Amino acid sequence: MFASRFIKSQLRLPVCALALCCIPAACDDHIVGSGAPIVNNCLRDPPLTWDNYGAYIIGRQCRPCHSEYSREGQRADAPLGVDFDDFDDVLGWADRIQARSVDDETMPPAGGMLAEERVLLGEWLRCDVYPALGQRDLQGVGAEQ
Ligand code: HEC
Repeated sequence: MFASRFIKSQLRLPVCALALCCIPAACDDHIVGSGAPIVNNCLRDPPLTWDNYGAYIIGRQCRPCHSEYSREGQRADAPLGVDFDDFDDVLGWADRIQARSVDDETMPPAGGMLAEERVLLGEWLRCDVYPALGQRDLQGVGAEQ
């Protein structure tokens, strides 16, 4: 049930790269009918990245208000400085993006984000963004990585 809704919604997304990476996973014999493995692990191959998902979803759902190129008066009162223009920005705001758009659904303020998009946003944060954050922090203190 979830799997077929998932596939349909993926087909609606205008990013071919994303559709290409999700459909084979959703059609896998071991995954059809269960749904859970799609969202509960980081085994997607290829994994979600800034290039194949993050830039698209943040660009579409967040950046109209949260961009350094959106000035006061153009950003629907999104606080100045809360900008997600590139992967580095996302690293800095990852926990708040998670809080507002995955754990809660208070961003974007007017809604309009599909449940599946939030699930994928959560997966991307968990499997790509947080690991990158850990590597960056470890590099900062000189740890071997
Ligand atoms: C229509 C404009 C608009 C869009 C689109 C939008 N936001 Fe916001 N955002 C706001 C406003 C206004 C605030 C300040 C009020 C508030 O925090 O609720 C804000 C504040 C924030 C904050 C800082 C406050 C905090 O809780 O740390 C974060 C993080 C945030 N938004 C994340 C997002 C994410 C992630 C998306 C996309 C999934 C998004 N927003 C889409 C208008 C927007």
